[in-house]
Amino acid sequence: MTRKTPTTLRSARWFAPDDLRSFGHRSRMMQLGYAEEDFRDRPVIGVLNTWSELNTCHAHFRDRVQDVKRGILQAGGFGVEMPALSVDESFTKPTSMLYRNMLAMETEEMIRSHPLDGVVLMGGCDKTTPGLVMGALSAGVPMIYLPAGPMLRGNYAGKTLGSGSDAWKYWDERRAGNISDAEWRGIQGGIARSAGTCMTMGTASTMTAIAEALGFSLPGASSIPAVDSGHQRMSAECGRRIVEMVWEDLTPNRIATPAAFHNAALVAMATGCSTNAVVHLIAMARRAGVAMTLDDLDALGRTTPLIANVRPAGKDYLMEDFHYAGGLRALMKQLEDRLDCTAMTVTGRPLGENLIGAEVHNADVIRPLSNPVYHEGSLAVLRGNLCPDGAVIKPAACDPKFHFHEGPALVFDSYPDMKAAIDDETLDVTPDHVLVLRNAGPQGGPGMPEWGMLPIPKALIKQGYRDMLRISDARMSGTSYGACVLHVAPESYIGGPLALLRTGDIVRLDLAGRRLDMLVGEDELQRRRTAWQAPEPRFQRGYGYMFSRHVTQADKGCDFDFLQTDFGTAAGEPDI
Ligand code: FES
Ligand code: MG
Repeated sequence: MTRKTPTTLRSARWFAPDDLRSFGHRSRMMQLGYAEEDFRDRPVIGVLNTWSELNTCHAHFRDRVQDVKRGILQAGGFGVEMPALSVDESFTKPTSMLYRNMLAMETEEMIRSHPLDGVVLMGGCDKTTPGLVMGALSAGVPMIYLPAGPMLRGNYAGKTLGSGSDAWKYWDERRAGNISDAEWRGIQGGIARSAGTCMTMGTASTMTAIAEALGFSLPGASSIPAVDSGHQRMSAECGRRIVEMVWEDLTPNRIATPAAFHNAALVAMATGCSTNAVVHLIAMARRAGVAMTLDDLDALGRTTPLIANVRPAGKDYLMEDFHYAGGLRALMKQLEDRLDCTAMTVTGRPLGENLIGAEVHNADVIRPLSNPVYHEGSLAVLRGNLCPDGAVIKPAACDPKFHFHEGPALVFDSYPDMKAAIDDETLDVTPDHVLVLRNAGPQGGPGMPEWGMLPIPKALIKQGYRDMLRISDARMSGTSYGACVLHVAPESYIGGPLALLRTGDIVRLDLAGRRLDMLVGEDELQRRRTAWQAPEPRFQRGYGYMFSRHVTQADKGCDFDFLQTDFGTAAGEPDI
């Protein structure tokens, strides 16, 4: 590979020529207080910071960006902080997923339109990882992903609390009348105690693990707790390394290969990944021109043992424990024979070299392959007359009695309808019923919200039931659990067969056969199909209008069709 030189830097096209435009660029840098030697002939690094006061998971990014810039300066680069859309999971309605692609577009265009030679991407809260990575993959300049790191483990009255998972669990206990107001307030104050992402193996930790396994984070970065001083040191290290990557011209297309995506998917399965990872992995792979399908993921799900004993799929531990047990390097060391260790990474070395010396410090947290949490089952892909293009379920996270199940459907057309019925203690429902929520997919939600862990009806909660078979075209939080079939494609809002299901129809889940069917005759289905009427579009204007025109279905990653790599010729470099 030829090394970059000061004259071949991308930023030199802005700053070097002796013409009026470049005079303007240089004079405006001087307006900021910089001399020419600060920014000329040096890699200019954009530090894309998804900080916002409403993104609680990224609360430390204001400080960390200084550490990143310190590292950039030390290595002879010039760092500029650039704010990027902070897609926060906690407050964004109807769902952060509506805005993942907006962040991806912003990232791509911000890089393309500015004098940047490389970028450090600062993200972590669920959608920010795929959003930043998708955009940077399309932009094509060298990039390092700096994960926010998980928050500290939760604590209330000496009991450990896990993000999301314990909120759901204690909410059910509260609905059953087992928890007082004071206890509930105590849990509220103790479940999120520091900056950082959710500290279960939810979507955030799954996606940062995927970013590291893809080769886009420095080794070990993905599990460092957000408030650990090691996180500051890692931030500075990202700054130092990205400058070298620019000189080495280590562009993302050399990292995001089919081998890297194989590694990322394998690691996702071994961590007991969030089901959201499926959508994001496919979307990221397609940006890199790698054809990854649901079937590839199902094949890995069948054969990859779950070895990260981290909740919700694992039993006891949280991300802090995972980090102290050796973190992702230690986990990948267990999988070394199954990984493609020749895959290039941001270190400039293949993955295998980054794993040298990695050790497990607690074999109950990071299990050996000989003693997994589950032998398989992080993820299964179903097909059938309810989901011809696929649906996903997390077998390891549900009661095994649902692995084969037949029961009558109880169908809800909207979230408010479902919510009202579920809390009605006179609702006619048995534990064998199959709860169905539709119109909750990419178009219908809109944005495919995390509604897929439908609440258990109050009447059944009081009788002690905590799991039921549930089906939707929604997603669910990575911190959720239960017998939830998700991502039904095509979605009901655009006339997928889920739209034809009626309350009382018998639904059959056959996990071993990877089937999900409604036991309704084809003639009857045809009658219902003919009678079906498409609902009104959700949006008449604005971003949502563009979203609904261009978003792809879950099995394709929910990217916008026009952002996919094969849609057309890329814009190329700006003509200056
Ligand atoms: Fe930000 Fe969970 S809310 S990672
Ligand atoms: Mg989440």
